[in-house]
Amino acid sequence: MKRCVLTFITLGLYVSSATAQQVSVASGVFTEADAQRGLASYGSACATCHGRNLEGKGDAPGLVGVSFNAGWKGKPLSERVSVIKETMPPNNPGILPDETIIDVVAYILKMNKYPAGATSLGADRARLEQIVVPR
Ligand code: HEC
Repeated sequence: MKRCVLTFITLGLYVSSATAQQVSVASGVFTEADAQRGLASYGSACATCHGRNLEGKGDAPGLVGVSFNAGWKGKPLSERVSVIKETMPPNNPGILPDETIIDVVAYILKMNKYPAGATSLGADRARLEQIVVPR
């Protein structure tokens, strides 16, 4: 009985510390300025393939709505930044600095109707591991 209670408490602590570290993108994790810079970079580095309105084109998936949901939900933004850094643009991956990719991610979030807030998305790189797109 005593052991059972202990296990319960340990589990409870584990679960609460794991969830306490997560921050939802719905809580305003980028600034309007991030998204504006992201819009400019998206226009020059991504739009030819993914479309002006992120609607997708040919092999390039859309980055809003249903296709955004499929690729982004439940994942931390740090993972998304790494994937983009390592694979995009496909003909020259790795060419974009992290700061630019983070701005583009802010723009993608804005286009998926997540709100801007007071803190720049790139202000604290470690925080990107905690910011998650809710399911
Ligand atoms: C030359 C065309 C091209 C350009 C430029 C390009 N993409 Fe892509 N992108 C693709 C194609 C094709 C795919 C699907 C195949 C793949 O995942 O490699 C893709 C897939 C993706 C995915 C989904 C990856 C996943 O695993 O979930 C994301 C996110 C993405 N691109 C973001 C970007 C961003 C941001 C930029 C600009 C910095 C960009 N792409 C520039 C063609 C392009």
